[in-house]
Amino acid sequence: LRHELFRHWPARPWVIAHRGASGLAPENTLTAFILAVEQGAHGIECDLRLTRDGHVVICHDASVQRTTNGHGLVHEHTLAELRLLDAGYTFTTDRGASYPFRGLGLRIPTFEELLAALPNHVVINAEIKSAPWDPADRQRGQAIAERVVALVRQRPDLRARLLVSSFDAAVLDTVRRLDPELAVALCTLPLAPLPEQLRGTLERGYDAFHPMDVGFDQHGAAVIAAAHEAGVPVNVWTVDVPDRAIELVALGVDGIITDYPEATRHALTRA
Ligand code: G3P
Ligand code: CA
Repeated sequence: LRHELFRHWPARPWVIAHRGASGLAPENTLTAFILAVEQGAHGIECDLRLTRDGHVVICHDASVQRTTNGHGLVHEHTLAELRLLDAGYTFTTDRGASYPFRGLGLRIPTFEELLAALPNHVVINAEIKSAPWDPADRQRGQAIAERVVALVRQRPDLRARLLVSSFDAAVLDTVRRLDPELAVALCTLPLAPLPEQLRGTLERGYDAFHPMDVGFDQHGAAVIAAAHEAGVPVNVWTVDVPDRAIELVALGVDGIITDYPEATRHALTRA
């Protein structure tokens, strides 16, 4: 693989916990990330957003509504305001019969809190949220990119563990411009044929390709071969059926991004 970073990572296939072990604990909370590590995930994936007062926090949606007891947009809240929200409030695995994480003190973490909580061996796939069709959101994406690069400058040990990803190529290009050594990955949606999705990654010289597992099989093998030819690993999201993870790895996929790291790891170990 082209980027040196991957030489420090565990042997493939990588199991990367999507928003932490988010099938079993509230997504993007320290509880879900630590659980993923305990379950043997090689890495965690997390979503980065900017608060009104310029802090980088971990939250998938633009709004806090789906995952907390609050309302409104992340970027309309200060960090102090976000800290008051219960990030375990809406999590249920029994369609609302119970909410086992309510009132336990789970919070929206900052990116720095996550970095402090993770053991040193854990790989971090930090996805910078930025909506290319929304100039203001894009500006926040750029600001997050700047802060992530600044953080890495303070903590060079992160270099061997951190893969910055985004759906917005402009964000990755900013990371590249500010820190050409930092590894970046392009996430894609199946809006174009898979070979075309990969082309963006290869032409822009990104280090990894993160396609969605929808319609992947049609061109999957050829695209994996082309990516590998260029030294670029292919990490597919979000794969929650262990047998599907086995199929993808048999096809040559390098990493599985999943809400269920333990089940995925067990399946891949058995296969
Ligand atoms: O980074 C891969 C995946 O997390 C992208 O989708 O919507 O879960 O952030 P989403
Ligand atoms: Ca994500």
